Amino acid sequence: MSAENAAVVDIAREGQVLVVTIQNPPVNALSQAVRQGLADAVAQARSDAQVQAILLVGSGKAFIAGADIREFGKPAMPPSLPDVLVQLENSDKLVVAAIHGPALGGGLEVALSCHYRLAVSGAKLGLPEVQLGLLPGAGGTQRTPRLIGVKAALDLMLSGRHASAEEALTMGLVDKVEPAGSDARTAGLAYANALLAQNAPVRRTREATALADKATSQAELDAAKAESAKKSRGLFSPGKIIECVQGALDLPFEQGMQNERKLFVQCLESPQRAGLIHAFFAERETAKIPEAKAAAPRALNSIGVVGGGTMGAGITVAALDAGLPVVMVERDEESIARGRANVEKVYDGLIAKGRMTAEKKAAIMARYSGSTDYAALAQVDLVIEAVFEEMGVKKAVFAELDKVCKSGAVIATNTSYLDIDAIAASISRPQDVIGLHFFSPANIMKLLEIVVPAKVSADVVATAFELARRMKKVPVRAGVCDGFIGNRILAVYREAANYLLEDGASPYQIDEAVREFGYPMGPFQVADLAGGDIGWATRKRKAATRNPQARYVQIADRIAEKGWFGQKTQRGYYLYPQGARVGEQDPEVLAIVDAERQRAGVTPRSFSNAEIMRRYMAAMVNEGANVVREGIALRPLDVDVTFLYGYGFPRFRGGPMKWADMVGLDKILADIREFAKEDALFWTPSPLLVELVDKGENFESLNKAA
Ligand code: 3HC
Ligand code: NAI
Repeated sequence: MSAENAAVVDIAREGQVLVVTIQNPPVNALSQAVRQGLADAVAQARSDAQVQAILLVGSGKAFIAGADIREFGKPAMPPSLPDVLVQLENSDKLVVAAIHGPALGGGLEVALSCHYRLAVSGAKLGLPEVQLGLLPGAGGTQRTPRLIGVKAALDLMLSGRHASAEEALTMGLVDKVEPAGSDARTAGLAYANALLAQNAPVRRTREATALADKATSQAELDAAKAESAKKSRGLFSPGKIIECVQGALDLPFEQGMQNERKLFVQCLESPQRAGLIHAFFAERETAKIPEAKAAAPRALNSIGVVGGGTMGAGITVAALDAGLPVVMVERDEESIARGRANVEKVYDGLIAKGRMTAEKKAAIMARYSGSTDYAALAQVDLVIEAVFEEMGVKKAVFAELDKVCKSGAVIATNTSYLDIDAIAASISRPQDVIGLHFFSPANIMKLLEIVVPAKVSADVVATAFELARRMKKVPVRAGVCDGFIGNRILAVYREAANYLLEDGASPYQIDEAVREFGYPMGPFQVADLAGGDIGWATRKRKAATRNPQARYVQIADRIAEKGWFGQKTQRGYYLYPQGARVGEQDPEVLAIVDAERQRAGVTPRSFSNAEIMRRYMAAMVNEGANVVREGIALRPLDVDVTFLYGYGFPRFRGGPMKWADMVGLDKILADIREFAKEDALFWTPSPLLVELVDKGENFESLNKAA
């Protein structure tokens, strides 16, 4: 074995057992060196007469987390994982896997190529390739159904979920479970020696017989196929996974493997794979920010929340769920009672669905207290204000907080748009003030924009990221501006949708085009869900400061003036008879749109769905570039993660900036310049976009440089 491989795969003989330890931190991914090390270990075992069995274990916190994702998209380097695993499975000496921590993707495929498997309680076993736009490509689609049947195998492969050690035992994925905390190496050695003592036979997974009943297997496959067509709309790899499993049913093992390889390569080459893997790494990058490197977080043992409305209650639940005690303050007794009720409603909903017990709720609510007196916040480490979106109200609340909060407490605002620098400047300790922009419902939505005002100290920023970590949120660092990253960009592409509407597309066609692109809903459906009154109030507030040169479409105002605020009033852009959740098209809305077109002197023209998306996306990407250029987002990937987690952007496209890179920035700039012939003000190309195109670079180059 070469010296370089010795570093990642350690081999030591313990009596009759060759212990092969993967040590490739942080997660023992199957890099080229690990694959070579495994192949070398199999060869060594074969040639060493004293060795009767091989034991595979992982060092550190994982067995093996799968293929090395960083290698995808680069030229393949031998030996290939499927080949190494065939060698492993073909071994005439017993091969045993002792699994602790994650055994995912290629990691589980390694284990499946072993003859016996044990798992330590707490292990996570799964085939999550589908989440990366891939399929289990090292025999996983062939061995798993042979071992546990089509239904269970497709469930794992199409969901990508992690199964516990106990569930894996029930499924037949592993043979034995050891108690939590057991040392995998020790338990594995004992198991290997016991198997040798029993003369246990070599047992190859490819010869397992769970597919013996062909008719049942085919029926299970057909059922999964029908369900996947509904659930995985627009996704490439789920269909390929099903094709592979059909191959496992119809073909001998070797041919099934070849079929799997062919389909794996198709997935590897798909743009969805590129988008999904970008998303995987991007969401792990956003917490890597200068302040977190420069400073340690402050103590974070208790939370205060001011306001118990939609957001205050959701934030309270998020904090309680993170194990923190929460003090909520509201303006009067009635409001605090409602605030508490809003919190309890969330837990009661879980109880009603059988996902929580009353005892558990009581234990959680014991960490909650409500008050109408700001003095109750005197000892909290971090307080989040979530009162009405009005500067005067916010400043009054901050003045109270300035009086009562202990020195060193972090004081945060959940404002959506207001100037946080101005809020910070209004109190005596601007260094402690930060924006924590949660998304509704705050206990569910993963995105947390952490808005960093000019005067805040680094340890406050680090504390905000620590809060996100504890709440299991995906944090994105944003600078102060109107709308921060997400809502600022949203305002621009939403305006592009309004222009399309006035220029000739119907709201229903625009929604359809956006859904076809991969969003769960179109912008007019979202408007109906959110409530047209909120946007209307904002537009009225901003009317005085609106640029008189800018085009302004009044259709939304006409609809709001009728009191059609969307689902809550049973009509908006759509009709929702009897409170229906799915809207019907409304001819009266189309008549309003027509009248507005006439009033504005617009001759309607037709747009294809593709043309709609060219404009919608060009507006999004252009403003995304402005946001990066101004430093509001640190990197393009921060824009991507904001849209993936806060705005329903289809994950398989990686995020708007990744999507733009894949389309080609030159094409997007050319589109913008073409649209500018109609409206040069709205379609002003972002200087950053122009600069990147001139230099022949893309957004990814900025991600790498940061
Ligand atoms: N390859 C390369 N790097 C990986 C990796 C992998 N498979 N899995 C994790 N990493 C990296 C992460 O990027 C991160 O790097 P960073 O510290 O530089 O940001 C580091 O390992 C730690 O990862 P996490 O922050 O995610 O650590 P957690 O402890 O939260 O989670 C985990 C661990 C559950 C293993 C999680 O990392 C994970 O889900 N990894 C991906 C698993 C996966 O998808 N495997 C399938 C790969 S595809 C495959 O195997 C194809 C095969 O069928 C041929
Ligand atoms: P809401 O109207 O549901 O709740 C506001 C609460 O603040 C009310 O319960 C009110 O009684 C309370 N309140 C008002 N003045 C107070 C005071 N002086 N002291 C204590 N409590 C007071 O509003 P919502 O939707 O929860 O919004 C709150 C903040 O969150 C706003 O700044 C909003 O912009 C922001 N936000 C809202 C989102 C949403 O989707 N609703 C998303 C992200 C941020």
